[in-house]
Amino acid sequence: MHKVVAKSQLSPNVTRLDVVAQRIAQIRQPGQFVIVRRGEGGERIPLTIADADPAAGTIALVIQAVGKSTRELVALEPGEAIMDIAGPLGHSTELISSGRALCIGGGVGTAVVHPIAQGLKRRGVAVVSIIGGRSKEWVIFEPELARLGEVVVCTDDGSYGRHGFVTDAAREALAGGGIDIVYAVGPVPMMRAVANLTRPLGVRTIVSLNPVMVDGTGMCGGCRVGVGNETLFACVDGPEFDGHLVDFDLLMDRLSTYRDFEQKASTACSEGACKVGLK
Ligand code: NAD
Ligand code: FES
Repeated sequence: MHKVVAKSQLSPNVTRLDVVAQRIAQIRQPGQFVIVRRGEGGERIPLTIADADPAAGTIALVIQAVGKSTRELVALEPGEAIMDIAGPLGHSTELISSGRALCIGGGVGTAVVHPIAQGLKRRGVAVVSIIGGRSKEWVIFEPELARLGEVVVCTDDGSYGRHGFVTDAAREALAGGGIDIVYAVGPVPMMRAVANLTRPLGVRTIVSLNPVMVDGTGMCGGCRVGVGNETLFACVDGPEFDGHLVDFDLLMDRLSTYRDFEQKASTACSEGACKVGLK
């Protein structure tokens, strides 16, 4: 069992849980994730390790409550526990060791960008972060990223920072030159838009993909993605890939496959059947 030691609300539907996971806290690398199961019979949920405190033996999980299982997870309070946390899983981020990196985070994807920016900063790379949300209350991880370098905040409605999408600010940053690599994590249309900006400039672009995952071992095929001419598995070959090679249409198509099922489960949860399947 993995005890929740702290909980905070980062935006209207995004919660941070700091949980005890001694071994993972000590060995995790930027870009890696865990698969959690709240209780017996619960769904397995892949979550990025947004931060870790090796001394305290804790990791930070950032959860967007979008369906039944994620809502059950964010209902946990400090003192309660998660039954299983498997990981760290996946490859660590390809980090450059000098130069200047642009880290772009859209919405909850900003939590995934944070450990990448930490890893870059540790290597002495200059980090510029561009992060965005629908409005001020949806912007997350701004103070944490500000400790690692320059941060440009964008909001869709202009209520905070720059008015517009993260891609608008990214276009300007790229036009200024001097960017050696781009890391982009967020909604699929955002990552595709970033890849379309950087492709003609020849700037290497890494994106983090979040297809449906089941076993996390490369056996079930649930997380397959198209990259270049290959079919790869996000859980064992990723979750980060060359953004210029990702088949974003296929990814969108596969992400929509389970939407109806998830909607039904979410509705049942709202009507009080949230604990079904959990002991
Ligand atoms: P959101 O829809 O509120 O968008 C966040 C920001 O992304 C916006 O403020 C904007 O700056 C940018 N953006 C959105 N659409 C864009 C577009 N078409 N072009 C350019 N920029 C755009 O995001 P959210 O609700 O916080 O995130 C939800 C999505 O992120 C879900 O689909 C989720 O699956 C995905 N997600 C991806 C990862 C990952 O690893 N790739 C991790 C977590 C969540
Ligand atoms: Fe099953 Fe990746 S989650 S193959």
